[in-house]
Amino acid sequence: MPPVGSLIAPDGGELVELLVPEHLRTHKLEEASSLPSISLTPIDMQWVHILSEGWASPLCGFMRQSEYLQSLHFNSLRMPDGSRVNMSVPIVLAVNEFHKASIKSYSSVSLRAPSGELIAILRNLEIYKHNKEERIARTWGSTVRGLPFVEEAVKNAGNWLIGGDLEVLQRIKYNDGLDHYRLSPAQLRKILEEKKADAVFAFQLRNPVHNGHALLMTDTRRRLVEMGYKKPILLLHPLGGYTKADDVPLKWRMKQHEKVLEEGVLDPESTVIGIFPSPMLYAGPTEVQWHAKARINAGANFYIVGRDPAGMRHPTEKRDLYDPDHGKLVLSMAPGLERLNILPFEVAAYDKSKGRMAFFDSARSEDFLFISGTKMRNLARLGEQPPEGFMCPGGWQVLADYYQSLTRN
Ligand code: ADX
Repeated sequence: MPPVGSLIAPDGGELVELLVPEHLRTHKLEEASSLPSISLTPIDMQWVHILSEGWASPLCGFMRQSEYLQSLHFNSLRMPDGSRVNMSVPIVLAVNEFHKASIKSYSSVSLRAPSGELIAILRNLEIYKHNKEERIARTWGSTVRGLPFVEEAVKNAGNWLIGGDLEVLQRIKYNDGLDHYRLSPAQLRKILEEKKADAVFAFQLRNPVHNGHALLMTDTRRRLVEMGYKKPILLLHPLGGYTKADDVPLKWRMKQHEKVLEEGVLDPESTVIGIFPSPMLYAGPTEVQWHAKARINAGANFYIVGRDPAGMRHPTEKRDLYDPDHGKLVLSMAPGLERLNILPFEVAAYDKSKGRMAFFDSARSEDFLFISGTKMRNLARLGEQPPEGFMCPGGWQVLADYYQSLTRN
């Protein structure tokens, strides 16, 4: 069992790591090559990564039907002692009729990475129906066309789901120059303990850090110090899996985050940066629970949440898909997240009267400027500057380089 020390305990009490020990690898690989195999998509691989390192603890593999139904209907899983841990998004593996027929007389199958490499064994299989419409409606609260994850990974998926216990043959690597940032929950816990953290506050993000985000993080630190914590550590935790086409790619976001730390917008000494390997579902208040739960497993006992977490614009209407306040409201009531301290924040915007990002004050709304993703993209693409105090100069330059590289291609 990985060291737990003074950090918050993982869900279920123990971090569930599903990596095969080194000395058994050759033997398991031989076994894997003797089994019928299923080829994974890149998003399936991201879930294998998530499961292998225990982000979804106490889940031991792709969901069986009982876990799937609990996740869909209760956003949580019942533990043997009757308590519940949060689990708001289904982590499932879909197969088609052909695969179903080829594995039906086996109790185990092997899983292949998109490269063809054998990556895992799934044992004690259970095969059950994949009612996609029901899954989509319950997870996203909408079946509108154009939900990014649904279009990418659900609509074309097979009509069957296979659950089972997962054994992963080797650590999942991407060889994209960012693997050193892909710290597992066990590795993060070790670093946080070495830093002697007495409070760990997590910040999930999928966008570049602007000074409004930074305000949430610095304000949290101030509050924690006021509460008497001596060594609060920020877990700056960008999401690294699938994101929609108009989000900034991970490689550029990581460069941008490096600048934010270099230029002192966030304090490098009391910040740990890592990549959270989950794909992004854009499922708003349902997904933000997953984001928070996974960070408990990495040792975080405080979770920052602001405007419209895990949200997006509605694909066909002129509005946000979810109410921007619902994420933080739901999080503070979510089943199985009672141990996590939720730190809700109001929306931050550019305060023209002060020349910096500040919390929105409706009494003087005319002083505030909302700089949307679209506005940011257009400025960066045209080589123009945002108002001073919106983002650190080095961070902005990274974005300008990224958007200009798109126009060149
Ligand atoms: S998310 O999909 O990862 O939630 P994003 O990277 O934009 O998206 O947001 C990261 C976190 O910052 C979320 O908790 C979100 O609610 C919060 N946030 C983003 N923009 C603002 C803002 N202008 N004011 C307050 N909170 C914000």
